[in-house]
Amino acid sequence: MKKTLLITGGAGFIGSHVVRRFITRYPDYLIVNLDALTYAGNLENLRDVAGAPNYRFEKGDIRDQAFLKALFEKYAFEGVIHLAAESHVDRSISNPVAFVETNVMGTVNLLHAAAQAWKGQSEDKRFYHVSTDEVYGSLGEEGFFTETTPYDPRSPYSASKASSDHFVRAWHHTYDLPVVLSNCSNNYGPYHFPEKLIPLMIHNIRQQKALPVYGDGKYTRDWLWVEDHASAIDLIFHKGRNGETYNIGGNNEWKNIDLVEKLCDIMDELLGRTPGASRQLITFVKDRPGHDRRYAIDASKLRDELGWTPSINFDEGFRRTAQWYLDNTEWLEHVASGAYQQYYAEQYENNDER
Ligand code: NAD
Ligand code: DAU
Repeated sequence: MKKTLLITGGAGFIGSHVVRRFITRYPDYLIVNLDALTYAGNLENLRDVAGAPNYRFEKGDIRDQAFLKALFEKYAFEGVIHLAAESHVDRSISNPVAFVETNVMGTVNLLHAAAQAWKGQSEDKRFYHVSTDEVYGSLGEEGFFTETTPYDPRSPYSASKASSDHFVRAWHHTYDLPVVLSNCSNNYGPYHFPEKLIPLMIHNIRQQKALPVYGDGKYTRDWLWVEDHASAIDLIFHKGRNGETYNIGGNNEWKNIDLVEKLCDIMDELLGRTPGASRQLITFVKDRPGHDRRYAIDASKLRDELGWTPSINFDEGFRRTAQWYLDNTEWLEHVASGAYQQYYAEQYENNDER
C-alpha cells in the first residue's frame, strides 16, 4: 500500500461518500474508517464497498485519547481526514455539551495523537479538518462568506466547529503540524440522515405527514451535491497548500420554503400524485432558537487555485436524491428505526479485525 489514511466519521453522511471515493479511486491506499457509530453512523452506508481489500473499519471514539494513541501505533497513518462530529444544529440546542465533547475535545485528541505520532517526521503527512460555513455566522440579503470573513458562530454546533478550527490552526503554528481546512455549505444527497431538512421532507412527503417549516421559511442555505463535496475534499487533500483554508459551496441558494415547494413538486411527479398535493402538507412551525438567516459561500479560491467546480446543478441533484430515497426505502426505515445497530452487531460480532 502506498499510503495509509485515517478517515474519521466515515459511517456518517458525508464521510461515507468520502470513504467510498477514496477506496475506489485509490486502490493503493489503505483506508481506515474510524467511527463511534452514534445514532448518525451507519455501516449500511458503506455496504457496497465494505469488502474492498484496501478498507478497514475501526469502531472507536475520538473522545478516547488512549484509543487514538493505540490506533496511530497500529497503523502508522500518513494522513488524516477528520469528519467525525456531532452535526445537527437542533440537537446542539437541546444537548450542547455533547458537541463540545466530540467536536472540540475529540478534535484536540486527534490533533494530539497525530502530532505525537508524527513528531519530527511530518513533512509528507497531512491532517485535513472538515468544517462548516456556519462558523462565519449569518449574512443579510447580500454578500458571501470568504476565507477571511471573521468568525461569528451563533449556535452551540457552530461554536464547537469554530473552536475546533482554531485548535487545528494552533497545532499548525505551535507544533508545525501540516494541516489543511475546508468550510463547506449545506450538503444533500444519498445517505443523509432524515433529521436534516431535505431527507426529513422527502420522508414525510412519502408518508403524507406534515412538512414542518421553521419560522417564516425565508431562511436561506447554499446547497451542494454531497459527491461534489467529496471531490473537493479529494482535491484539497492532495493539492491544497499547507496551512490553508478553502471554502466549498454550490453557488446554489434557496429559501427553505421555495426548496420545500420544489421538493413537493418533484416528489408528486415521481410518486404519480396530483400536482400540488404534497404542498398541502407544508406547516409553518415554531422557529429554531438563534436561527441563522442566510449562508452563502464564495468558493472562488478553490476554483481559481485548484480548478474545482460543482459537477451537477440542483435540479439534477435533487431528482437523483429523491429517486435514491424512493429506491432505498429499506435504508430509510432502518435508519429511522435504529435497526442498523442490529445490522452492525450481526455483521461484526466476534470479528473486531474486519
Ligand atoms: P453525520 O452526523 O452524518 O456523521 C457524523 C459521523 O461521525 C457519524 O458516522 C458518527 O457516528 C461519527 N461520530 C460522531 N461522534 C463521534 C465520536 N465521538 N467518535 C467517532 N465518531 C463519531 O455528519 P455529516 O453531515 O456527514 O458531517 C460530517 C462532517 O462534515 C462534520 O464535521 C460536519 O461538521 C461537516 N459538515 C457537514 C455539512 C453538512 O451539510 N452535512 C456541511 C459542512 C460541513
Ligand atoms: O451549512 C452547513 C451546515 O448545514 C452543516 O455544518 C450542518 O452539519 C448541517 O446540519 C447543516 O446545518 P443547517 O442547520 O443549515 O441544516 P438543517 O438541515 O438542519 O436545516 C436547513 C434549514 O432548514 C435551516 O434553515 C433550518 C430549516 N429547517 C430544518 C429542519 C430540520 C426547517 O425549516 N424545518 C426542519 O424540520
